[in-house]
Amino acid sequence: MLFTPYITLATRFCLICLCSVRPQMSKAIIYIEETNSMADVTFPSVPQVFSLLQYDDTSRARHTPPVAGYPVVCVTACNPKYPDYDKTGSICISEHINDTLTRYRWLVSAPTSPDGVTSSMREVDFNTFFSSSKIITLDSVYFQAGSRVQCAARAVNSNGDEGLELSSFIVSISIEDGMCQPRVVGTVGAEPFSAKLRYTGAEDPDHPNLIKITVTMPHIDGMLPVVSTRPLSNFELTLSPDGTRVGNHRCSNLLDYTEVKTHHGFITNATKNPEVIGETSPYQYSAPLRGSSILRFYKNLNLEACLWEFTSYYDMSELLSDCGGTIGTDGQVLNLVQSYVTLRVPLHVSYVFHSPVGAGGWQHFDLQSELRLTFVYDTAILWRDGIGSPPEAELQGKSHIKLNIFKSNFSLYRMRQKQTNTVWCTLST
Ligand SMILES: *[C@@H]1O[C@H](CO)[C@@H](O)[C@H](O)[C@H]1NC(C)=O
Ligand SMILES: *[C@@H]1O[C@H](CO)[C@@H](O)[C@H](O)[C@H]1NC(C)=O
Ligand SMILES: *[C@@H]1O[C@H](CO)[C@@H](O)[C@H](O)[C@H]1NC(C)=O
Repeated sequence: MLFTPYITLATRFCLICLCSVRPQMSKAIIYIEETNSMADVTFPSVPQVFSLLQYDDTSRARHTPPVAGYPVVCVTACNPKYPDYDKTGSICISEHINDTLTRYRWLVSAPTSPDGVTSSMREVDFNTFFSSSKIITLDSVYFQAGSRVQCAARAVNSNGDEGLELSSFIVSISIEDGMCQPRVVGTVGAEPFSAKLRYTGAEDPDHPNLIKITVTMPHIDGMLPVVSTRPLSNFELTLSPDGTRVGNHRCSNLLDYTEVKTHHGFITNATKNPEVIGETSPYQYSAPLRGSSILRFYKNLNLEACLWEFTSYYDMSELLSDCGGTIGTDGQVLNLVQSYVTLRVPLHVSYVFHSPVGAGGWQHFDLQSELRLTFVYDTAILWRDGIGSPPEAELQGKSHIKLNIFKSNFSLYRMRQKQTNTVWCTLST
């Protein structure tokens, strides 16, 4: 047993006090309560890794490998879901182990190669802006079909004392079963994304007079989709919880809803798609097991259809000042009083995969596109306020339009639209 110098000094000090104040006292008995030793705060058996799909039926799941594309869960011997909890539970209670305080770590390695070579287990120590690698579940972006996964759990008792860490056996993620398997094994990004830019109109009940951006991407197991109007690079930094992401990608799905500085963002406070009734897969929407920021991100995934859909709404000045959009006339004139104006918004889309080998951490496949919206704008308004340059004068025209649209609100454009019967164009990639 170790005594800290503090206790020793304090004890001596007290003895001296007692002796000096009460000299008649010949003897003092000091009881020092022994602190719980680590050995007392240890799980009675090793934790086990299961697919979150099987969390309610761990006894039967013991010999089934977890499916790819769905989180895995670390079940300790003090978790009532543990297959032998009827034997281990009473020990946990007598040791006052509080399983909600358990500390988790995860280790992952690349799939075993065809010639049987296994790579070493590496700790997953990379939190992303939406996921943590230190909780009871490990999100499916951290592994792929055939990956080997292991968890380590440290027990904590109700006083907060930590015990020894125990590691689970290593499990291999199923190669046959996955939520969204690639059609051709090993291909990525073969199916392109689609993106749309649309003016919502004045009658839209929730988002009137805004420009709606919708990006749809096919999902495959382990994929992390990234959408931004700014070029994407340095994924270690871009995907991390670090704040530079917030400044650089103001119109992206990399922002949690509290970080969005525009009026709307791709990630909202919703943790569940309102069109989906109930849970289509067990614990899919469980915030205690998965964390609410993960749920906010995955709200955009339709796991049944294996399709991501990210939607956000911006006004014109946000598109120009925050999202890197530009506006120009293209030199097209409809008639004497009206001109075509085109809004262009760059779009960068990456399919990102966690890589357990190599130092890089993430593999990514980057695609790029441009969204365009052409509309009719009143030439009189364009040329009012002074400049008066003809539409051919591209440069002056552009900057002037930008200024005007920047300052205006959308009821103006709607008015033009009604009067001229112009169709709003939506261009997909
Ligand atoms: C376990 O810890 C949690 C979190 O601190 C607490 O809310 C809960 O009451 C504790 N349970 C027991 C049985 O001590
Ligand atoms: C989300 O935000 C809206 C509006 O700010 C609020 O009414 C709603 O209760 C919030 N929902 C959740 C789940 O926090
Ligand atoms: C938008 O513009 C219209 C007409 O140009 C004006 O009546 C309205 O008050 C403006 N709305 C806002 C919120 O500025």
